[in-house]
Amino acid sequence: MKSNKHFETEAIRIQNKRSQFSEHSTPMYLTSSFVFDDAEDMRASFAEEKEKNLYSRFSNPNTTEFVDKIVAMEGAESGYAFATGMAAIFSTFGALLNSGDHIVSVRSVFGSTHSLFTKYLPKWNIETSYFNVNDVDEIESLIQTNTKILYAETPTNPAVDIIDLELLNKIAKKHKLLLIIDNCFATPYLQKPIEFGADIVIHSATKLIDGQGRVLGGIAVGRSDLIREIYLFSRNTGPALSPFNAWILSKSLETLAVRVDKHCENALKVAEFLESQLNVNWVKYPFLRSHPKYEIAKKQMKLGGNIVAFEVNGGIKAGRKFLDNINMCSLSANLGDTRSIVTHPASTTHSKLSEQERLEVSITDGLVRVSVGLEHVDDIIKDLDQALKA
Ligand SMILES: Cc1ncc(COP(=O)(O)O)c(C=O)c1O
Repeated sequence: MKSNKHFETEAIRIQNKRSQFSEHSTPMYLTSSFVFDDAEDMRASFAEEKEKNLYSRFSNPNTTEFVDKIVAMEGAESGYAFATGMAAIFSTFGALLNSGDHIVSVRSVFGSTHSLFTKYLPKWNIETSYFNVNDVDEIESLIQTNTKILYAETPTNPAVDIIDLELLNKIAKKHKLLLIIDNCFATPYLQKPIEFGADIVIHSATKLIDGQGRVLGGIAVGRSDLIREIYLFSRNTGPALSPFNAWILSKSLETLAVRVDKHCENALKVAEFLESQLNVNWVKYPFLRSHPKYEIAKKQMKLGGNIVAFEVNGGIKAGRKFLDNINMCSLSANLGDTRSIVTHPASTTHSKLSEQERLEVSITDGLVRVSVGLEHVDDIIKDLDQALKA
C-alpha cells in the first residue's frame, strides 16, 4: 500500500471510522463476535461477499487498525496480527510450507525460532539449513531443489550482526525463493525490508512496537496472496491478537517514530561510551564506524536501533559480575522497553549451547546485550560505568 503521507502522520491518522459517539481516539472493541441484520447479511458475510467482522479470531476493528498501520509503514499489501511474535513466525511457516519443503536460514535467529526449525518443523518433514551471519557467500550452496524460504533477522539477536537485504533478495529472486525477514530489532521506522524485495515481514510487536513492556503481540505483513494463506491458516488454528492488545499496540504506533529516534540517540551515546572503556574488548552497534557491516547498516537502516552488544573483559565470570553490579538498568528477558535492560546471553538464554555453538552465532562468553531505554542517557551511562568499574 503506497501512501503519500509521512510515516509519523500515518501512524496517527490511520484510524477506524468513528462510531455513532464521534470519539476522537479509537475505542476498544472488546467483543468476541459481531451481529448481522438478517440471514442474507450473515450468508453474504460468511461467503466473503461483504467485508464485515464476523468473529474476533478472524478480525476485529482494533486488530484491523493495528494491521492497517503496519501495512502502511512497511509498504506491504496486507497483513494479519498475532498474539505473539512466535505465533506470527510459526503460523507463517505453517501456512506457507508443505511436508518435504526446505528452509535456508541465518543461524543467528531468535532462540524459539531456532527451536521451531530444529525441533518442531522436522516433525512435518520440513528441514532447515543454516548459514553463518558473516558468511553469506555460503547461502547459494545450501539451496536445494525443495528449498522454498530464505529467512533472516537483521540486526540479529543478541549479537547485533547485520545482513545485506539487497543481497538476500538477489539470491531469493534468482532461486525463486520466498524471502521472509524478522524486522523486530529495526521496526518499520528504521528499516523496510519490502523495499529491498522481501515477500513477508514479521514482527514481535512485544518489543519496540509496544515499547513500554506491557503486552505481547506479533504481525506478518507482505504480499496479499501469501497473507491470504496465512490468514486462512490462522483463522482456523486460532493464534489471533486480542483486541485489547491491538488497541494498546495501535496507540503505541502513534509515538513509534519519536520513541525510536530517542532510543537510537541514547544507544549511539552508550555505544560510544562503551567503546572508550579499557575493560571492554569490543562494542557492536550498527551505526558505529567500527561495526564490520557499518556501510550495509547505513544503506538499509535509518538509524542504528536501540540494542548495543559489547564484550566485557574476563569471560562468563566477568559478564555475570557486571550484571550483579548493575543498579538501575533491569535484568530482564525483554528488549525495546522504555526501561534499559541488560542481559548476559552466555549464562542465560544461550547457556545450553556449547562454546563452539555459541561462537557460531557470535555469542562470546563476555557478551552483554544492552537494550537502551528512554531514561536520561547520562543515568544509563553512569549505571553501566559503575558496574564496569565495580
Ligand atoms: C528477533 C525476535 N523475533 C521474535 C521474537 C518472539 O517474539 P514474542 O516474544 O513476541 O513471541 C523475539 C522475542 O524476543 C525476538 O527478539
